[in-house]
Amino acid sequence: MKNTTLKSAAVIGLGYVGLPLSIQFARAGLRILGLDIDEVKVRSLNEARSYIHYISHESIAEQTSAGRLSASTDFSRIAEVEGIVICVPTPLNANRDPDVSYILETGKAIAPHLKKGHLVVLESTTYPGTTEEDLRTVLEEGSGLRAGVDFHLAFSPEREDPANPQSKVADIPKVVGGMTPACLEKAVALYSPAIKTIVPVSSCKAAEATKLLENIFRSVNIALVNELKVVYRAMGIDIWEVIEAAKTKPFGFMPFYPGPGLGGHCIPIDPFYLTWKAREYGENTRFIELAGEINSAMPENVVQRTVEALNSHRKPVNGSRILILGMAYKANVDDDRESPSYVLMEKLLARGATVEFFDPYVPEIKHTRHHAHLAGQRCVDWSKETITSFDAVLIATAHANVNYGQLVEWAQLIVDTRNALKGIVHDKSKVWSA
Ligand SMILES: NC(=O)c1ccc[n+]([C@@H]2O[C@H](COP(=O)([O-])OP(=O)(O)OC[C@H]3O[C@@H](n4cnc5c(N)ncnc54)[C@H](O)[C@@H]3O)[C@@H](O)[C@H]2O)c1
Repeated sequence: MKNTTLKSAAVIGLGYVGLPLSIQFARAGLRILGLDIDEVKVRSLNEARSYIHYISHESIAEQTSAGRLSASTDFSRIAEVEGIVICVPTPLNANRDPDVSYILETGKAIAPHLKKGHLVVLESTTYPGTTEEDLRTVLEEGSGLRAGVDFHLAFSPEREDPANPQSKVADIPKVVGGMTPACLEKAVALYSPAIKTIVPVSSCKAAEATKLLENIFRSVNIALVNELKVVYRAMGIDIWEVIEAAKTKPFGFMPFYPGPGLGGHCIPIDPFYLTWKAREYGENTRFIELAGEINSAMPENVVQRTVEALNSHRKPVNGSRILILGMAYKANVDDDRESPSYVLMEKLLARGATVEFFDPYVPEIKHTRHHAHLAGQRCVDWSKETITSFDAVLIATAHANVNYGQLVEWAQLIVDTRNALKGIVHDKSKVWSA
């Protein structure tokens, strides 16, 4: 197989990873075909309408109008491109085991159209072995071609810092592992025009394992500060002050922050991909499980603090009106996947509270498998009358565009899990950190 620079690629899965990547490839001059099973996203992209709030319509329009970016639901069109990049979801199933069905379905959909010389790169976060074992099998079976001989196969994990304006796809170094040296070379050729720094590793497995290390590192460190938050609070020490002081150390320390529990599509999920795969090798992942245990105990801990806070106002949680501030799992994004706010909501509802929410990025709760009965609930309005009507406001996400000055003035009681009131003058007796 001969490697040349690639001029075109399909990006399959046009979500939080696939859309910005498609735009960046197109900016670099590649002709990009976005493929998705979601017709709404495909239509939006073709009409240059963004469906992710921190990605502008203009950034899409620049590429669609230049003829470098278009979208389709027709997977046979991979025949028109040289590279295929897969960015589909990798959730956990009901038993909290990896669900790689989206990857396999994509593999089955493209296999009949695969041609000699094609490059297939998987970007979805997954356990080591997915690319060279699971995906390779469906691609080879469906195409009659051989990976590493007839077509190239590689893995390159996505690294995204959603809503961070300083973090640009082009500037984030990209780890790439190929099934063979030629596969690696071809994958490096695909990414090189679009990404400044490429980090080649020896295999697809090494690249898959790199992504898991990064996410496990976060999960374990967040668990550590969550545990210390509880211990230090019992000692009358403010964890936030301690982290600020510790991070002045110029070496050997990196700050992580406590919160109401893990959220998002990565940190609560990805570590368990490794746990599952490790069992096949007779190995345990005790750090991952301990971190999971500590992090998943956080919502209950926050609810207990809320109960104490209400008690200080001589109010039982049963019958109280509580406002959750922030449904997104992280500040300044509209992504509420796996958000701990839902767990907080459920726990407070189970204790008899009336629970509503305010989130500038979430106008209405969408239908989800886990919280189907909350679907359709709408964000309350931001006014003195509304905010004052709640017995307590529980800050779960510290969006920057919330007026915390008004909040401390209007709210009867505030439980702050994010140190969102740092620097805001407030009456300490009505604010509880949690
Ligand atoms: N969002 C992030 O910040 C981030 C960061 C690093 C890694 N990842 C990983 O990247 C992968 C994608 O994540 P995401 O956040 O972009 O997910 P997402 O849900 O935002 O997007 C996935 C897209 O894939 C589409 N899709 C589902 N099944 C499909 C199929 N069979 N064929 C074609 N399209 C299909 C969906 O319609 C959706 O548009 C996951 O493995 C995730 O863990 C995400």
